[in-house]
Amino acid sequence: MRLKDKVALITGGANGIGRETARLFVLEGAFVAIADYDETAGVEVLLELQAAALVEQAIFVKVDVSDAISVEQMVSSVVEQFGTLDILINNAGITRDSMLSKMTLEQWHQVIDVNLNGVFYCTKFAAPHMVQKGKGKIINTSSIVGVNGNIGQTNYAATKAGVIGMTKTWAKELGFKGVTVNAVAPGYIETGMVAKVPEKVLQAMIEKVPLRRLGRPQDIAKAYLYLASDDADYVNGTVLEVDGGLVI
Ligand code: CAA
Ligand code: NAI
Repeated sequence: MRLKDKVALITGGANGIGRETARLFVLEGAFVAIADYDETAGVEVLLELQAAALVEQAIFVKVDVSDAISVEQMVSSVVEQFGTLDILINNAGITRDSMLSKMTLEQWHQVIDVNLNGVFYCTKFAAPHMVQKGKGKIINTSSIVGVNGNIGQTNYAATKAGVIGMTKTWAKELGFKGVTVNAVAPGYIETGMVAKVPEKVLQAMIEKVPLRRLGRPQDIAKAYLYLASDDADYVNGTVLEVDGGLVI
């Protein structure tokens, strides 16, 4: 019960890594707001928790993180329903991969809007609640692509590098107010996002991983759990790479 009675807001909590994180956090005793624009999948997660008699610990909030007004309403709704906010996991993200020569302006802006603006909006509206109580944990989702770049991902790499910049800035701005800010940089993880990668590229990626496998959503959920728990109270401004050794 490493998160007993903590209130956690997980964006992109309806699928993939976020979904696994919502489940794990509930099992660790947290009250969890699953915030996503995929309402169908969000309701599915609640039904799964209901089957495990854990549904009263979770709510679904529909949000588009790229829309500041929607984000402001989401944060208010979570604080209203659970009474406080202890943990924010900025996990929602998208890809629109294309070579630089073919990348459209729309692909560029879509990814910036969700992965970069979305993280800014969520933190802007959530952080004051943590600052007010003098304690909180913010965990941002970067990527090994934000550290090293990747073919076909100009837009995505820019956002995930930007997330690292925001993480370090907020760690400095909010640390002395009791709020820690860290990032996780996953490698290739088995979710719908990676399912879009051409098989040839994916196999080449797996061969570069010393563990010779893709990551699983649980691998990242456990990293989020560590950073969200009291065990990480003195960890601030770090980027935790969870990639099976892909980039060493
Ligand atoms: N690494 C190495 N080589 C790559 C590559 C990569 N990531 N992506 C593409 N290539 C290679 C292709 O194998 C191909 O090589 P050949 O000419 O020898 O066959 C060449 O680059 C051109 O690629 P395509 O023929 O596929 O070109 P395209 O214009 O049709 O498609 C693309 C370009 C959309 C970028 C497509 O190649 C692609 O989807 N690549 C994968 C990009 C990727 O790795 N995305 C990660 C998504 S998961 C994620 O983002 C999570 C995370 O944080 C890690
Ligand atoms: P996923 O596609 O399985 O889940 C992403 C979730 O975000 C979905 O539920 C989707 O509905 C939600 N979402 C997307 N745009 C949204 C918006 N505008 N508003 C609200 N919700 C929105 O992807 P996955 O793999 O679980 O990714 C989670 C995070 O991890 C993302 O930030 C991604 O960039 C990052 N990541 C993923 C890696 C991987 O290999 N799967 C590797 C490195 C980072």
